[in-house]
Amino acid sequence: MSKSKNLYIKTFGCQMNVYDSERMATSLGADGYNEVSSPEEADMILLNTCHIREKAAEKIYSDLGRFKSLKAKNPDLKIGVTGCVAQAEGEEIIKRQPLVDIVVGPQAYHRLPAMAKSIENGKKVVDTDFPEEDKFEHLPAAPKTKRAPSAFLTVQEGCDKFCAFCVVPFTRGAEVSRPVLQIINEARDLVERGVRDITLLGQNVNAYHGAMKSGDANLPQLIKELSKIEELKRIRFTTSHPNDMTQELIDAHGEMEKLMPYLHLPVQSGSDKILKGMNRKHTAKSYLEVIENLRVARPDIALSGDFIVGFPGETDEDFEQTLELVREVKYAQAYSFKYSTRPGTPAAENKNQVPEEIKSERLSRLQALLSQHQKEFMGTMVGKVLPVLLERPGRLDGQLVGRSEYLHGVHASIDQAQIGDIVNLRILGADTNSLRAEFVSK
Ligand code: SAH
Ligand code: SF4
Ligand code: F3S
Repeated sequence: MSKSKNLYIKTFGCQMNVYDSERMATSLGADGYNEVSSPEEADMILLNTCHIREKAAEKIYSDLGRFKSLKAKNPDLKIGVTGCVAQAEGEEIIKRQPLVDIVVGPQAYHRLPAMAKSIENGKKVVDTDFPEEDKFEHLPAAPKTKRAPSAFLTVQEGCDKFCAFCVVPFTRGAEVSRPVLQIINEARDLVERGVRDITLLGQNVNAYHGAMKSGDANLPQLIKELSKIEELKRIRFTTSHPNDMTQELIDAHGEMEKLMPYLHLPVQSGSDKILKGMNRKHTAKSYLEVIENLRVARPDIALSGDFIVGFPGETDEDFEQTLELVREVKYAQAYSFKYSTRPGTPAAENKNQVPEEIKSERLSRLQALLSQHQKEFMGTMVGKVLPVLLERPGRLDGQLVGRSEYLHGVHASIDQAQIGDIVNLRILGADTNSLRAEFVSK
């Protein structure tokens, strides 16, 4: 093992990047890199980037600019760009910002330690291949140290859907599912390290179809296998596409005890004309039918969603239909964005772009409605006794912070239980983003 060095990783974008950053840290850790929490201490800085909207991508260059002074102080400092901007822009990144040493796309992370070695003598490396080999087979397992009780586990990557606005099919490539056994082994490792709540990740996680002895397994079958791990108490999955919500998966929400009553199911728009333009291949009605069936299977299910306002050609009437759909579903939580033109996607070519002021106005109207619903949903928790997984110490003395089944943060003073336990807490009040509670029982 070489002499110890410091690694700083900054993560942007979705949960899949959070998971990847952890795997990269482990992989470089096996090569003598210690993770640190500030770029000033680092011998290597990795920016794990997101390309989904223009602002996210541009932020990388402003961050890189700020690292100039660090490199002046420490000429041995190495700087890498990973993730979706790396995949999309490749060597352009080094042309625009020559202080970058490594550019590596999401499919080639297992090659990072070798790259780290080859840049030591001043070379630069760009790797945006989609290699034949399975990177997961080549990434080392994490050391058996204790970790936080909630974890992400990527089970599927890439997307074959090609929504007209989206860069993901280009940055993450075609859909690939990991084999069931590989996932079970990783879940077992996580559970041994103290994990009780696992969120299965994929750009299109409900299209999962991983290899199993008896042929391919779908997502409900995978969840069933994972449910057999006794100490694993909670299972979630994200992100799903409405068209892959099969009846079997819907029914699973009523049948599998460990599957949490919470689902992120993006719809993007409530207008069929816009959905068609987006190439979503579903209608507002078919989406609402899925929601209805989910509520039949699991009456206490809460929903979360994603919305884009100002997609090319969106009229006031189209936007009203989005508000209408939101009123009908009443999301517990949601993300909403102004449409951002992404080079290389079909919608970027569309002549009917919506002016920025109209996008902004629609976004604030939508967000006002969504946050009103979010607040109402949190309000319904007050007075209830909920099972909460204790995750970390709170800011106050004796306080612990946990998560409800609906992903609400819950604060309470507790000395009868510890991190990793699931306890029953009575909800006393709701703040903007979290709940206050008192201990009831273990
Ligand atoms: N695979 C996930 C989405 C990944 S991107 C899915 O299909 O739901 C996360 C969210 O970013 C999307 O749901 C969409 O709401 C938003 N998004 C994607 N491309 C965008 C763009 N060009 N402009 C604005 N928002 C976008
Ligand atoms: Fe993007 Fe659509 Fe694929 Fe989601 S389903 S990643 S929005 S192309
Ligand atoms: Fe962003 Fe890539 Fe995730 S573009 S949202 S980091 S898949």
